[in-house]
Amino acid sequence: MDTVIRAEDLRKVYRGGTVAVDGVSFEVRRGEIFGILGPNGAGKTSTVEMLQGLRTRDAGRLDVLGLDPARDTARLRRRTGSQLQSSALPERLRVGEAVRLFARARRVAADVDATLDAWGLVELRRRAYGNLSGGQRQRLLLALALLGQPELVFLDELTTGLDPTARRDTWRLVRRVRDHGTTVVLVTHFMEEAEALCDRVAVVDRGRLVACDSPVALTAARGGPVRITFTADGHDPRHLLELAGVESVTVENGRATVHGRGGTAVPVAAALAARGAVPPDYRTTYPSLEDVFLALTGRALSEGEPS
Ligand SMILES: Nc1ncnc2c1ncn2[C@@H]1O[C@H](COP(=O)(O)OP(=O)(O)O)[C@@H](O)[C@H]1O
Ligand SMILES: [Mg+2]
Repeated sequence: MDTVIRAEDLRKVYRGGTVAVDGVSFEVRRGEIFGILGPNGAGKTSTVEMLQGLRTRDAGRLDVLGLDPARDTARLRRRTGSQLQSSALPERLRVGEAVRLFARARRVAADVDATLDAWGLVELRRRAYGNLSGGQRQRLLLALALLGQPELVFLDELTTGLDPTARRDTWRLVRRVRDHGTTVVLVTHFMEEAEALCDRVAVVDRGRLVACDSPVALTAARGGPVRITFTADGHDPRHLLELAGVESVTVENGRATVHGRGGTAVPVAAALAARGAVPPDYRTTYPSLEDVFLALTGRALSEGEPS
């Protein structure tokens, strides 16, 4: 397997003594969307800034595309893309100009027309950055980050502040980036975003890595039981307890609730159907990364540090 980032025991302590990153290790594989998920203040931005050589690390070993970001910052910059903060562009800069300027600054040969076309920005070419919607801004920032088709791109809280539609549109674009072969490191505090987009996720809390795996593996191992509910009209569903993986069956007011390990939903449905029970409201709820975070830290993902 081709590893593009290897981080070992990364550490960042700010002046004043805040330990922002406290011995974090992980690997990012070529071609994946790798998520760094955690509440506000967890140390995500500090981590990706060290990966890009934008911030010095206080300890640890770091290999990014075979380079040390602290030493080979300029060389690394030519091979990676980075999303700008949305405040980084002047309000009056036009979309077409932004693409031209950034291509020149990054010294990459970029065809402005082709870039605008690829990102659906042709009609917005003369529009000032300040007059773009949130979703249009993110589209432009992504286009700029990906000028010259870098091998690796860093996206930090890309969809914060977007409405659900614009967020979903942005997710589609990020998948497209990955499908074109660019490895993506995506920082987010949105559990849904990590779940929807990431091939693997590093869950971080208070500067420490608490888990790292695919969303499916994380939720199966740490998320708690799968919950199935349905109306149990005229039939006692306790026979389901005989199925492997089913942990409990309760009935209240005619509604049955089954708890079980991952993978129990299909055998439970089959056992019901075999008895002629076809409830119209058979509903399965799988654990989410939010449940994983709660199980690992005892706190909700939305409870960041007080700001
Ligand atoms: N430049 C800085 N100086 C001092 N403390 C900082 C600085 N940047 C971040 N911090 C602190 O480091 C911790 C981690 O911050 P950050 O890496 O931005 O977390 P995240 O991106 O997960 O929200 C927080 O407690 C934050 O207040
Ligand atoms: Mg951050």
